[in-house]
Amino acid sequence: MIRAALSLACALTLSLALGGCGDDTTAEPGTFVAFQQNFAPYRTWTSLDVGNIAVGGHPAGHAVVYANNPVPSGCAWPVGTILVKEVQITDDRTQWELFAMVKRGGSYDSNPAAGWELFTLGLTPTGTPVITGRGVNPGADMYSGAGGGGCNGCHGTPSAHAFDSVLTTALRPRCPTR
Ligand code: HEC
Repeated sequence: MIRAALSLACALTLSLALGGCGDDTTAEPGTFVAFQQNFAPYRTWTSLDVGNIAVGGHPAGHAVVYANNPVPSGCAWPVGTILVKEVQITDDRTQWELFAMVKRGGSYDSNPAAGWELFTLGLTPTGTPVITGRGVNPGADMYSGAGGGGCNGCHGTPSAHAFDSVLTTALRPRCPTR
């Protein structure tokens, strides 16, 4: 009976939230869990062209960062924030790589990356973002420019904590105490 109830709960979770059972997409109260559809409108958000600078941990190419909220005047981005870094590697957007940080909040990855869930995404030929990895450190082997640490090797360092784990200078929270 208990098992049946659990599988029903799993089926409901799957159909309602496109989440799975046993993964970590179950929300704590007051938190935001992103799914693929949350990234769909990212190109309509505020954008910042960061040009073509070489950054370890990210592939070379012209990069644009998109944010669904304004840069905060407090010390941290609010729960529900999505930051997407789009690296335009070639003229073919199916080759582009997208990196995202989603402020999930609660106790999620409270150390090292301060409530952020990290994502890697690709684009379909029509430009729809598709999640290829998510979690506290997706693609740790591929993006280990900081010596095996994956995303958190850079975004989760103590020096990045001062900026809510955000490294693009113009997107760091305008924390009045700094
Ligand atoms: C070797 C260091 C390094 C690694 C590893 C790394 N990043 Fe970054 N990332 C940076 C730097 C530096 C910037 C800011 C670049 C700039 O100033 O334009 C950045 C920018 C970003 C941004 C734009 C918002 C921000 O924080 O500035 C996102 C989103 C992002 N990275 C996600 C990821 C994800 C997801 C991973 C892992 C899959 C990852 N990064 C791995 C160094 C790294």
